[in-house]
Amino acid sequence: MLAMEYLKRTTTCGALSKASAGQTVVLNGWVHRKRDHGGISFINLRDRYGVTQVTIDADAPDELKRLVTELKPEYCVAVRGVVRARPDTMVNPQMETGEIEVKAEELAILNRCEVLPFVIDEESDAKEELRLKHRYLDLRSGGMQHRIRLRHETAFAVREYLIGKGFYEIETPTFIKSTPEGARDYLVPSRLYPGKFYALPQSPQLYKQILMVSGFDKYFQIARCYRDEDARGDRQPEFTQIDIEMSFVERDDVLELVEGMMNHVFTKTLGIDLPEHFRRISYDDSIEIYGTDKPDLRFGMEMKDFGAMAAKGSFQSFADALAVGGAVKALVVPGQASCSRRQIEELEAVARIYRGKGLGWMKVNESGGLDGGISKFFGNAQADVIAGLGAKPGDLLLFVADPKRKIACTALGAVRSRLGKDLGFCDPKRFEFAWIVDFPMFEYNEDEKKWDTAHHMFTMPQAKYHATLESDPGSVKGDLYDLVLNGFELASGSIRIHDSALQKRIFKIVGFDEAEGEKKFGFLTEAFKYGAPPHGGIAPGLDRLVMLMAGETSIKEVIAFPKNSFAVSPMDDCPSEVDQKQLDELHLRIVPKEEK
Ligand code: AMO
Repeated sequence: MLAMEYLKRTTTCGALSKASAGQTVVLNGWVHRKRDHGGISFINLRDRYGVTQVTIDADAPDELKRLVTELKPEYCVAVRGVVRARPDTMVNPQMETGEIEVKAEELAILNRCEVLPFVIDEESDAKEELRLKHRYLDLRSGGMQHRIRLRHETAFAVREYLIGKGFYEIETPTFIKSTPEGARDYLVPSRLYPGKFYALPQSPQLYKQILMVSGFDKYFQIARCYRDEDARGDRQPEFTQIDIEMSFVERDDVLELVEGMMNHVFTKTLGIDLPEHFRRISYDDSIEIYGTDKPDLRFGMEMKDFGAMAAKGSFQSFADALAVGGAVKALVVPGQASCSRRQIEELEAVARIYRGKGLGWMKVNESGGLDGGISKFFGNAQADVIAGLGAKPGDLLLFVADPKRKIACTALGAVRSRLGKDLGFCDPKRFEFAWIVDFPMFEYNEDEKKWDTAHHMFTMPQAKYHATLESDPGSVKGDLYDLVLNGFELASGSIRIHDSALQKRIFKIVGFDEAEGEKKFGFLTEAFKYGAPPHGGIAPGLDRLVMLMAGETSIKEVIAFPKNSFAVSPMDDCPSEVDQKQLDELHLRIVPKEEK
């Protein structure tokens, strides 16, 4: 104990420079690397702040040299020594502390480390399962340390900005009433009330609206949310939202606040200036032009409508789709006429995943004519097709036709997204934000033959549709908006309904009868009866934001302890079985899978 106290650090492994030369310091950290060079040993000692080279000279005391032979990667050690400037020829510009080294005089092993399951480097190339099993080691890597710091700095900048704008940070419960919100709830059984359950919140949605009824005016919370849905690269069963709600606002107030917040965050954390305002694209245009409501705008390649031009050719599939009110969409891929048949087949497979029936193609040859694929059906109209699509020699033209307009758009849109990645248009250091606005309020659920809300049930339908909500739900637009960044949905929000009567009409359209609506959401409609203010809000996903800022494609890379793709944490083996006693207390009986 005494030795440890004696060798308690006086500085960190990232702090020393030439100015410290001559000082005696104590460093504590982990052995990052050890090298021996003809009697002299070098240890790169690492902590959260950086790496410092410790040198054990040939004339070091024997006990010190003996201890050094014991050291292995990731031993936790303390070193006392004198800072010395490196000769100019030995300065390491790659290291923050590369101007100096510490000549060791005393060393203590604070803790040994077993043989590592994988090498801890800038990024670990171990399998994800192994990284998650030994997450404490994976988190020591330079990449994870950087990303967790970026997450911390992002959350700090968010708080700084919102508090500066007069927002209160208010916590809402994580044991709530189970209410339908889109995904499946995680449930917590109640010991005191057999057969009753708390739910973990899918988001603080209802509470933040109630806080507006209570007059808090501007609320935010960096809130943990829980959704029992299949994990994907950008989804986790538990994740974090920057949850925001404001009273007496219209849509543009919310959009401007978030634009300001993103500007603040990017300047503070990455030193990047974003545009003051982000472009706005209507949902309908986004589908028509990019085939998705989360377009990647780091590249153009906008889809065009080929309906009018298709009539100039004689390709039957195009004519068939158009005859029943469908669409033919076209994509000009610049300079890709050299692409092989196999590559086109791969793209066709992408279109098929999105229910496209096929992928038509032609190539613009060097003499300005059309070759290959379906070009034979456009014999007399080649010049018109090329001019109509604004194509150039060497371009590849791709087409999807479908009796359902949306399928033609989304299938070719998926091909566009894939090409963006394959052709290297997705620079992770570019950030292209956009607002998608004017979403449909309702979506038809083909399986259940009923209308669902496209976002959630508390979204305000745009005023001009209030009279026709029931008679024509399909054409109603909601006062709702998404923020997209580089092909991901970063945030969703809306202006909310603050009138119980209107709220009840929405419940009815989505098939809740009055009694059911009352049972599930009665507390909200009840609250609205007491002078609820007009209000609206939004919730950017913190994990997705930091993931994109860090240039990653999985949110696991920016979460300290994520679950794997099967919603399991391999480190602590969670979820796990519990004792019979605990089940008894909760009045639960497990039905084996086979009995079910
Ligand atoms: P929504 O459900 O669209 O809206 O979620 C808002 C944002 O939260 C993030 N997100 C997720 N991130 C990681 N894993 C998940 N499983 C996951 N699900 C969602 C996304 C998404 O854009 N209460 C409303 C917001 C509001 O209207 O104010 C809501 O939760 O970045």
